Amino acid sequence: MSCKLRIVVVGCGRFAQSFVPLFKAHPVVEKVWVCDLKKDREEDYARRFGVDRFSSFEDALRSPEVNAVAIFTQRFKHGPMVIEALKAGKHVYSSVPCAISVDEIVEIEKLIRETRLTYSMGETGFYRAPAIFCREEFNKGTFGKFVYGEAQYNHDIRNMEDSFRSSGVDDWRSYAGIPPFFYPSHSTAMILSAMPGVYATKVTALGFSGSPRTDIYGTDGQNLYNNPFSSESMLMQLSNGGIARISENRCIGWKSPETYITQFYGSEGGYEFSVAHHHLAVWDKDDPKSVVMKDVSEQLQPESVYDLMKKDYGAAIQAIADSFGFTETSPIQPTERIPKEFDGLPNRHNGTHHFLIDDFCRAFETGKLSPTNIWAVARFNIPGLVAHQSALQGSIPLDVPDLGDPPADWPVLDYKTMDR
Ligand SMILES: NC(=O)c1ccc[n+]([C@@H]2O[C@H](COP(=O)([O-])OP(=O)(O)OC[C@H]3O[C@@H](n4cnc5c(N)ncnc54)[C@H](O)[C@@H]3O)[C@@H](O)[C@H]2O)c1
Repeated sequence: MSCKLRIVVVGCGRFAQSFVPLFKAHPVVEKVWVCDLKKDREEDYARRFGVDRFSSFEDALRSPEVNAVAIFTQRFKHGPMVIEALKAGKHVYSSVPCAISVDEIVEIEKLIRETRLTYSMGETGFYRAPAIFCREEFNKGTFGKFVYGEAQYNHDIRNMEDSFRSSGVDDWRSYAGIPPFFYPSHSTAMILSAMPGVYATKVTALGFSGSPRTDIYGTDGQNLYNNPFSSESMLMQLSNGGIARISENRCIGWKSPETYITQFYGSEGGYEFSVAHHHLAVWDKDDPKSVVMKDVSEQLQPESVYDLMKKDYGAAIQAIADSFGFTETSPIQPTERIPKEFDGLPNRHNGTHHFLIDDFCRAFETGKLSPTNIWAVARFNIPGLVAHQSALQGSIPLDVPDLGDPPADWPVLDYKTMDR
């Protein structure tokens, strides 16, 4: 087998265009192809990015020239396509979610454990500034014992309508009504990735079924999933005794910030975020009855956003609501580890894309696990799938299956250095 990646990007829709240039530029990648059921999209990508086309996903899996695939198809297709790719002996980069059934995730984990192929799910939440900040402070012991946290991912369906329309299915409404908790990892990852090895043991959930988009969310069969909920919230009981509230909102009066931790409290310290400001509080060492509160926004906001906050706060929060800073990194993110070949290339979702592609490539190169390996992402995805069942069944508490830690002889790359 080639010691470099020869990868087919499958699905030339709206998202993958941010990633083809990154795969092309990464020093571990030798060749990139693109492939789509819609040949006009495939052709457009091939022309724009100067790459070859592959006739079909199935042909890519059969080809000895190809050793990896990157799955950027619609969210309900990931599970079956990843399983097929692993069975064909290909390394897999998958966009989120991992899969939309627990059985599919169990099958993916089993195949990876048996084949030792590289798998990485591109969870942007893992590299968002609040997740990194809470992870670093938690590891230092600043928070003490974790008590309670809150995270959410807000993405209004009215702004997503165009993407569902263009997503390759005529009956777009039936797919757009996917339960919010079938796509839970942007919020769960924020809290769980801050505490490596911690997982949900039990969930109880509620769903909001009063969405104005009754054409998308309803129980009379207009969506494929018989899903009535446009928003879902759950409480997770965690393996370390802590509690987390997680919300996935698809029809609300809010745009940005979209993926964030609002509260992360431990016995010794707490973090809070609201729109623009990030705060850290810790008990005062010299006066145990007082708390020292610091504004840590400078570390967590992109430089341009922080500068505007200082100059004109009103303008800054409007800019944040309009997604200002979306393409930029923050000082807390370990950008020193990013290959120089990515300099000047597109980066989105608060500068997380470069990390995600480097994680996959570096995991392949070293034979180590990506930080967002299957064992990590099973813990991000499965609680949502179980919580949707809880919400449908009157919020009954349900146990969450856990697929365990990675095999002891398969080390995970350090997200700050990539072991370089
Ligand atoms: N923050 C994030 O992590 C984030 C953001 C946006 C999208 N995504 C994920 O990225 C994925 C792609 O999103 P998108 O908006 O580009 O979707 P899209 O619908 O615009 O594109 C999907 C493409 O896949 C193609 N496709 C489907 N089945 C195929 C097959 N068997 N072979 C070849 N091509 C096939 C479709 O024709 C379509 O062009 C989604 O799963 C979404 O969840 C993640």
